[in-house]
Amino acid sequence: MGRLTIFVSIFCVLFVYSEASCWSERRGNGYYCTYGNMFLHKGESYFNATAPNCHKCTCSEDAYRLNCCSLGNTITMIPDDCEIKQVGCNQEAVSKADRSKPCNGPVGGIV
Ligand SMILES: *[C@@H]1O[C@H](CO)[C@@H](O)[C@H](O)[C@H]1NC(C)=O
Repeated sequence: MGRLTIFVSIFCVLFVYSEASCWSERRGNGYYCTYGNMFLHKGESYFNATAPNCHKCTCSEDAYRLNCCSLGNTITMIPDDCEIKQVGCNQEAVSKADRSKPCNGPVGGIV
């Protein structure tokens, strides 16, 4: 008898934030930029909400470059008993046992 069990539960959600990733492409002719089969004028932006690669591209002021940044967070590190769930442009860490529950444990990602 007298057996004592101590449950130590550490519920810790740690998000590591960093700059959203951006890139630049040479896709302009000085008059407009092209994005897919669309034309973007100087300073004009196109928001692509195709999950999971949501991004926003803006035609530069000189219309020679298309500057894009990804939107939404990316999870890069989760505990073994969790998995990544894509929710729109964002990712969430959820429990493998019950995907409706958030992950308990350290989660790392970039936003
Ligand atoms: C939006 O991004 C997706 C994924 O990168 C791509 O497949 C799709 O062609 C893009 N949409 C347009 C309108 O270019």
